[in-house]
Amino acid sequence: MRLAKFLANSGVASRRAAEQIIRSGRVTVAGAVVTDPAREVDAGSAVRLDGRPVGEGAQELVVYAVHKPAGVVSTASDPQGRPTVVSLVESGQRLYPVGRLDADTTGLILLTNDGDLAHRLTHPSFEVDKTYRAVVGGGPVREPALRALRHGVALEDGMTAPARVVRIRPDTLEITIHEGRKRQIKRMCQHVGHRVIRLERVRFGPLLLGDLPPGGHRRLSANEVSLLRNAGSASRTGGTPRGASPA
Ligand code: URA
Repeated sequence: MRLAKFLANSGVASRRAAEQIIRSGRVTVAGAVVTDPAREVDAGSAVRLDGRPVGEGAQELVVYAVHKPAGVVSTASDPQGRPTVVSLVESGQRLYPVGRLDADTTGLILLTNDGDLAHRLTHPSFEVDKTYRAVVGGGPVREPALRALRHGVALEDGMTAPARVVRIRPDTLEITIHEGRKRQIKRMCQHVGHRVIRLERVRFGPLLLGDLPPGGHRRLSANEVSLLRNAGSASRTGGTPRGASPA
């Protein structure tokens, strides 16, 4: 398999980050520096990162569901010193967030050391559904605004794809999108005249936030991880969501 995928599968970094690491000359194969992420390797190739052996299965691959509270950032570290989602989970593994939520957005975010899975879940071509609950200002949300959100709206970075939008209260929408543009829900709502006051992600692919408490986390079962791995195709065929709350 390609060296970048090998590193990602070994839990070193996401596939994209692994490509950077390789290009920066930190990886050797059989003692020689390799800067080509596409170089073919296997478990017997003596791959090392910064001199330390790396191998498939060298680190157990894990996925956690985390309920991100407001004020916590979803980057691995923050120049402003705010707490990070990664710091909410004590784990011997080097975890990183799958995608991003704004600092003031709450709800379900996944942490993993499985670079290949993270790639599948965040790459636009896999179209994983994410559902957000948005409390909005600007008065009750009327039909024309709902129709526009469902159809797609013209943002500065292009039209949004059709979305599923359910008005669960006059000022509260559940919006399901499969894109992951920056501040997308806030910008979509603003576009139809409703500023988002509170935003929570309540579903990621087949997983529901459920009753996981703010700041809480739990490790996903092997079955849930396999559901996630198939999430791209499942969400397009209407796969059944599973609760992310502890049983
Ligand atoms: N859309 C937003 O506007 N913010 C988020 O954090 C996630 C989706």
